[in-house]
Amino acid sequence: MTAEIISGTQISKTILAEIKDEVEKMKAKHGKVPGLATILVGKNPASVSYVTLKVKTALSVGFNEIQDDQPEDIPEADLLALIDKYNKDPDIHGILVQLPLPGHIDEKKVINAISPDKDVDAFHPVNVGRLMICCDKARFLPCTPAGIQELIVRSGIQTCGAEVVVVGRSNIVGKPIAMMMAQKSICANATVTVVHTRTKNLAEHCKRADILIVAAGVPGLVKPEWIKPGATVIDVGVNRVGVNETTGKAILKGDVDFDAARKIAGKITPVPGGVGPMTIAMLMKNTLKSAQYVLGDL
Ligand code: GUN
Repeated sequence: MTAEIISGTQISKTILAEIKDEVEKMKAKHGKVPGLATILVGKNPASVSYVTLKVKTALSVGFNEIQDDQPEDIPEADLLALIDKYNKDPDIHGILVQLPLPGHIDEKKVINAISPDKDVDAFHPVNVGRLMICCDKARFLPCTPAGIQELIVRSGIQTCGAEVVVVGRSNIVGKPIAMMMAQKSICANATVTVVHTRTKNLAEHCKRADILIVAAGVPGLVKPEWIKPGATVIDVGVNRVGVNETTGKAILKGDVDFDAARKIAGKITPVPGGVGPMTIAMLMKNTLKSAQYVLGDL
C-alpha cells in the first residue's frame, strides 16, 4: 500500500481563497478589512521565518497587517503596554505575539494581557476554557489543532467512533486536539487516547489508532511498525535537523519516518507541506472571524 498524501499546501490554498473572498465582501459591505498585529521579539531564526510567512499570508488575503518587530531586550512592561495599545485599537481584530519569548519576559503574563476577543492564537485561558466547554461555540480554536481537524474533515476521513491516538500533551497541540476530537460534534465524536514520554508501551497504543496524531517534537519517533495498516497519520513535528548547504535553508523532518510510514498508512501528511500551512490558514480564519464578530456579521 502507498498512502495517499494529505496536502496541507493544497487544502490551505482553498481555505485562503475562501478567506480572501470573505474579505472582499467585508470591504464592499463595511469599507473595512480584518486587522492583524504580529509582534516578534528578537530574531530567533525559526520565529523570524514563521512570522515572515504569517505576514505574507495576511497581506495576500487582503488584511491590514501590522508587523511589529521589537528588540530582544524590550522590557516586559513595554511589551505589555504595546499589547494594551493593540487591545484598544478598533482597526486591529487579532493580536499575535510569536513564542517563545526571551527569558526575561513572563510568557503567561503576555498571553493573559491579550484581550480574549483578539486572541487569534486561542492561547488565553478564557479561550482555552471555551474550547473545553464547547468547541462549536468557541470564537477561536487554536490554529494548529484547528488545522489538523480541517485536514481530517476535508480529506473525508471518518472521525465518529474512530480510535484517535495523540502523541504529545503540549498546551498548543496535544491537549487541545485531544479535547477537540473527543467533543460531541460531527467533525469529532472520536475515542481519544493521549500518550506521552512516560507512557508504557507507546508502540502498542499507536498500533490501535485509526487516526494517529503525532506532536512530540522528536524526529522520526514513530516507527512504521507502530502504524495500523490503512490508518491516517497526521505528523505535526517540524524538526530542524540540519541546513541545506546549497540553499542555506533548514532541513525539516517530521516526528514520523515518512518514507517507511507511507508504505503502511492509508493517508499521511508530509513535512513540510502538511500541518504547517494549515496553522497559518487557521490564524487567518480566526482573524477574519474576529472582524466579522465586531462588524455584526457573525
Ligand atoms: N510559536 C510556535 N507556534 C506558535 C503559534 O502557533 N503561535 C505563536 N504565537 N507562537 C508560536
